[in-house]
Amino acid sequence: MIAKVLISFELNSKKIEVETEPDRRVIDLLREDLGLTGVKESCGRGDCGSCSILVDGFVRLSCLMLAVQLHGRKILTIEGLNELEGVSISVQDAFVELGAVQCGFCTPGMIMSTIDLLNSNPKPSRNEIREAISGNICRCGAYQKILDAVETVTEELSESKNV
Ligand code: FES
Ligand code: FES
Repeated sequence: MIAKVLISFELNSKKIEVETEPDRRVIDLLREDLGLTGVKESCGRGDCGSCSILVDGFVRLSCLMLAVQLHGRKILTIEGLNELEGVSISVQDAFVELGAVQCGFCTPGMIMSTIDLLNSNPKPSRNEIREAISGNICRCGAYQKILDAVETVTEELSESKNV
């Protein structure tokens, strides 16, 4: 039997400690051990983006990370967005209001990639948005509406800054 490792990290604004196996993936820790099922697994090999989370503010694929790599980091999943204000709420609202959600399977990952983009580039062009979500596959083909939603958020944010 493999000995477990104690890791501590910040998860959705709360500090936690958890014991985990050295070879456990982040997605399994989040979904199975911590009940955060908003993180979705599709390909399990880095191709689809559905398992995207933010690690220290940058989008990462939780199917390709080991849980032990979370030690000392700040993790944000889709479940943690409602605790925040501003950009994260606006992005979620825009996806719902503009019909960018169909089956919803890709949505958490799309939103995490969008937040990563807006953290570094608050006013991206449509092409920059396209590039930022290019690692996220939507099997429903809702790409145009997803682009519209992200574009709407960026316009609203820049208008609110100009008020
Ligand atoms: S499930 Fe991680 S990239 Fe597809
Ligand atoms: S909305 Fe169904 S996979 Fe994107």
